[in-house]
Amino acid sequence: MKILVTGGAGFIGGNFIACALRENRADEIVCMDKLTYAGNMHTLSGALKDPRFRFYRGDIACKKDVEEVFRKESPDAVINFAAESHVDRSIAHPSVFLKTNVSGVGVLLDACRKYGNVRFHQVSTDEVYGDLPLGGKGDAFTEDSPLRPSSPYSASKASADLLALAYSRTYGLPVTLSRCSNNYGPFQFPEKLIPLALTHILRGEPVPVYGTGENVRDWLFAEDHCAAIRLILQKGEPGRVYNVGGRCERSNLEVVRALISAVGKGEYTFVADRPGHDLRYAIDPSFAESLGWAPKVPFEEGLQRTVAWYLSHEEWWKGILDGSYRAYNKEFYGSKR
Ligand code: NAD
Ligand code: DAU
Repeated sequence: MKILVTGGAGFIGGNFIACALRENRADEIVCMDKLTYAGNMHTLSGALKDPRFRFYRGDIACKKDVEEVFRKESPDAVINFAAESHVDRSIAHPSVFLKTNVSGVGVLLDACRKYGNVRFHQVSTDEVYGDLPLGGKGDAFTEDSPLRPSSPYSASKASADLLALAYSRTYGLPVTLSRCSNNYGPFQFPEKLIPLALTHILRGEPVPVYGTGENVRDWLFAEDHCAAIRLILQKGEPGRVYNVGGRCERSNLEVVRALISAVGKGEYTFVADRPGHDLRYAIDPSFAESLGWAPKVPFEEGLQRTVAWYLSHEEWWKGILDGSYRAYNKEFYGSKR
């Protein structure tokens, strides 16, 4: 099978490509990525040495870019990881979220129709369901929970979900969706809580904790998310949504304290809260589990592995903080085969 992975120079797409090549899960992988600030060719350095892998720089919201890849590569399936993914950025500058996360998905869906009813998987998020009250138990989001997004980011992801499901029903396009909880692991951009905290701790700066730090997220090691997507691609029923999560709720303060303890130093400070800050996420992943998926990496082990990775890959995150990764990305401007 030849899989087109969009957004593969980012955190989860990069993990997906590395796992798929390592475990011989695909005959060929083609990556298309715009290389926004969040795309990093260093993340793909292993894949670029593999003859089964090809990279194209392109924008999912640009029909010409997308159709060029479809014409040259004729993928059997598309997994769309490409997105603007950071809630804080969506609050500051929403418009690019609409372009990439909504229009971009529309362009990909049209290409899938035009080039032979290509199998399409949309990587979505638990944030489309909005939030839950703090302290609740047994009230996790199911696939039937109403969509109540809070931020421009989550509203754009919910819009894309609806569009993808409409293409399934109206045109019979073989579409599946996964809505996953918070991921963590190697290669995550240091704007998100866990790598942001780690890089602050390692540089001797206090970790900024929004509000009271009581907000709760449901954490999943990125490789476990990637395994769920692979299984949904193989066994998932077209037109269906699959919730994916770690059954692993932790408050932000618990996470930050665990990181300080794992590194053996560090401190945090409370800062102004995020506007519209979702209180708590909790995902019921029973439907994905019914396909035979289960998270393999417990939070404590995943956190240790993540801390060890950031400690031993200083050049990766320091290249982001000093901006030098941008120059490396420039070498890949234009299509590359
Ligand atoms: P990321 O920001 O690390 O990576 C996004 C990638 O998409 C980058 O390589 C970027 O260059 C690329 N990209 C952005 N706009 C593009 C465009 N217009 N055309 C082509 N490429 C473009 O994001 P991530 O954390 O890896 O998230 C991947 C997907 O998973 C997103 O769709 C996100 O909504 C979803 N998701 C993320 C999490 C999480 O915790 N990180 C959880 C659930 C779902
Ligand atoms: O739930 C899935 C979502 O998880 C994905 O769809 C998003 O792409 C991904 O970014 C993530 O969204 P969050 O908003 O939950 O992640 P973030 O790392 O930005 O924040 C996690 C929690 O930590 C949140 O409650 C806000 C808080 N936080 C975050 C930052 C960056 C802080 O307290 N301080 C910070 O500096």
